[in-house]
Amino acid sequence: MVVKIKEDVYWIGTIDWDVREFHGYETLNGSTYNVYLIKDEKNVLIDATKDYMFHDLMLNLKSVIDPKEIDYIVINHGEIDHTGSLEKLVEYTGATVITNEKCKEHLELQYNTEGWEFITVDDKGEIEIGKRKLKFIKTPMLHWPDNMVTYVVEDKILFSNDAFGQHMASSERFDYEFKDVELLLEETKEYFANILLPYRMLIPGVIDTLKNLEIHYICPSHGIIWREYIEEVLEKYLEWSSDSCVNRAVIAYDTMYNSTKKMAYSIGKGLMECDVQVKIYNLSKTPMNKVMRDILDAKYVLIGSPTLNSNIYPSVARFLAYMEGLRPGANKIGVAFGSYGWMEMATDVIKKTFEKLGFNIIEDQCLTCRFVPKEDQLSKCYKFGKRLGEME
Ligand code: FEO
Repeated sequence: MVVKIKEDVYWIGTIDWDVREFHGYETLNGSTYNVYLIKDEKNVLIDATKDYMFHDLMLNLKSVIDPKEIDYIVINHGEIDHTGSLEKLVEYTGATVITNEKCKEHLELQYNTEGWEFITVDDKGEIEIGKRKLKFIKTPMLHWPDNMVTYVVEDKILFSNDAFGQHMASSERFDYEFKDVELLLEETKEYFANILLPYRMLIPGVIDTLKNLEIHYICPSHGIIWREYIEEVLEKYLEWSSDSCVNRAVIAYDTMYNSTKKMAYSIGKGLMECDVQVKIYNLSKTPMNKVMRDILDAKYVLIGSPTLNSNIYPSVARFLAYMEGLRPGANKIGVAFGSYGWMEMATDVIKKTFEKLGFNIIEDQCLTCRFVPKEDQLSKCYKFGKRLGEME
């Protein structure tokens, strides 16, 4: 499938309905690897696909142009999902790769680039391709050191690579075709929370730069092309970068014999009494990326784990490692809880992660319980939840 965006500008990407795992991100809705073609005096591809989608990409490309007529392949970012097919693509087309020095280094470390022609561009570098001019704006650490975006001056199109994307396979290509805009923004938020969050402090500067450009389309490398909701997605990126919190508690737990689960539910009931929005997730049953989406702007983060073999439960340990890497905002309240048999070990592990993240840790005697919590213990958990929800 090929989709025309403007005269001589096409989406020729591939839709991966089956992908369910993306370095820890469970992509339950699949994803897309968006590749774009600009036909001009020089014909240009923007980014590529994973290796196994090379065939689909070539079918799309051949339906518009002879691949041998491609002059340049712009690579905005070296990660494998956008470059896995690049060796074959360069061999087949003979095209020159346009990228920045850091990305060139990353490509050389991942692929056999012997014989490739490169043009490297500096910050705000420009290349004329005929009627059009491509401007390259480096966006390092969003989310790799090599990231840049490409702006087509005449068409006012921003090719933003990972920024503003979503992991979502769909038949719709443009935001205005997508019926449920709230869902689209929720998917965009989930992507932000799991890909861009560690480097969010850099985003306001990038948005400032982008606001100086007239942008009619934002074409990311995953998901939907933005046309009608450009202002909204830029504002959302600023909001999600700001570390502002809503009155939400995320209670993420796992449980061995339902004791820690009962504590989670009782604390949650107390919080709900105070009109706190409560989200309770069993970490063995919920993708970590869904939990992180809700933690992004949550005021409270409560993590529960039973003690198993002198340590924390494995699914909770996995989540803590994942959350620590993503470094959510420090202005959160952290609560650790859980049951144990004879030696309580799990909550200390959780609190260590909270300390590393700078969370304000709230403790209470009711938050650990030997074996099975009885009614009086659960009542204490409930009352703790209420006290927590009433805190200013
Ligand atoms: Fe979609 Fe960072 O690759």
